Amino acid sequence: MSLQMGWTRLSFLLSHWVVYVKMSIYCQWSGYHDFPADEPSEYDLSMEKTEKGFHTSMHIPSVLCKHIVGKKGETRRRIEHETKTQISIPGPGIEGETVVSGREQEWIASACTRLELISSDARKRLPATHFMSVPLATPAFQEAFCTFQRDVLSNCSECRGMDSTIFQRPHRLHLTLCVLTLLSPHEVEQAVAHLNATAPLIRDIVGDEPLSVSICGVEYMNDDPAMVDILYGKVHTKDGSDRLQQLANGLVSHFSNTVFLKKDYEQVKLHLTLLNTTFRKKVVQGADSKTSKVEERRGFKDRESFDACKILKLYAEHPFGEMVLNEVHISERHTASADKYYTCTASVPLLEPQTE
Ligand SMILES: *[C@@H]1O[C@H](CO)[C@@H](O)[C@H](O)[C@H]1NC(C)=O
Ligand SMILES: *[C@@H]1O[C@H](CO)[C@@H](O)[C@H](O)[C@H]1NC(C)=O
Ligand SMILES: *[C@@H]1O[C@H](CO)[C@@H](O)[C@H](O)[C@H]1NC(C)=O
Repeated sequence: MSLQMGWTRLSFLLSHWVVYVKMSIYCQWSGYHDFPADEPSEYDLSMEKTEKGFHTSMHIPSVLCKHIVGKKGETRRRIEHETKTQISIPGPGIEGETVVSGREQEWIASACTRLELISSDARKRLPATHFMSVPLATPAFQEAFCTFQRDVLSNCSECRGMDSTIFQRPHRLHLTLCVLTLLSPHEVEQAVAHLNATAPLIRDIVGDEPLSVSICGVEYMNDDPAMVDILYGKVHTKDGSDRLQQLANGLVSHFSNTVFLKKDYEQVKLHLTLLNTTFRKKVVQGADSKTSKVEERRGFKDRESFDACKILKLYAEHPFGEMVLNEVHISERHTASADKYYTCTASVPLLEPQTE
């Protein structure tokens, strides 16, 4: 009898310890300690007591739910069976909460872990939807870029693969800090809140001193200058400090506690894309020459590189101009706003508004 009691107590303690450990791992993972308590985390695992045990809810984007349901509901049934829980998922195409209920908290926690794993796996296979950008499309810079484009096309016309369609569009010039996958309005809202919460970090790094950059020279990242897919503009801070790099690293690492970052970034490679062969549009000659049409190639598989040797030589020190960085955006991919820059989902200023 007393042995039985002892065992029950032990397993009780053990199971609570497991929940405790799980929760603290979860809290570290979600960066819970770094943020004020009202900062939402991706999956809020707070348990609520019910008559028959406990339940908790998670916001799993609708596009990921089908992976949790599985073929004919198989996956969900298996998890329910193995973790002794009930999982209720919003219907197809409906954004809402997935509710997990069961008698014991650790059963629920274990089901949630499974759901998170399946979701994050499925998420990785989806294309990014947003990116964090620093807009650079000032009128002066757009003009300098157009001049550069005209000069390159006239001076490097003989370079293999050189074409006007592989140039970035001037009104879209930007620095990319990182790419994000935001799959529901709820996730967009969380990302916006996350961006809002970077204000103190920005204040620490930028302070009262405007972040001025000069764009000078061009570079590429792969090994062979004769087979380049992307040509970048080099970004330098005016004061020679590494504030911009610090800011980029800080902003991105602020998101590294979320599931939204498309990949892990150790050090953000700041890049200003000037030419990108994924933009290439090809004129395909039809059987008779009148039916030629412009074929837009999307995707990376059949991209055709260009020979950048001459550009790299001619424009190694090319000055594009200087500017003060004003804001950081969460931008939506493949969109355009009225000013033809990417649609801004949210932004934070890099300089505090002057208050008298
Ligand atoms: C390239 O061609 C332009 C004419 O479009 C010319 O003005 C310029 O000096 C040439 N050289 C460079 C390095 O751009
Ligand atoms: C983010 O900040 C903006 C501007 O201060 C505010 O309007 C918005 O409600 C905030 N959004 C979130 C989700 O915190
Ligand atoms: C090149 O363009 C493609 C298609 O728009 C985009 O997905 C990719 O991120 C771009 N690459 C860079 C380095 O700008």
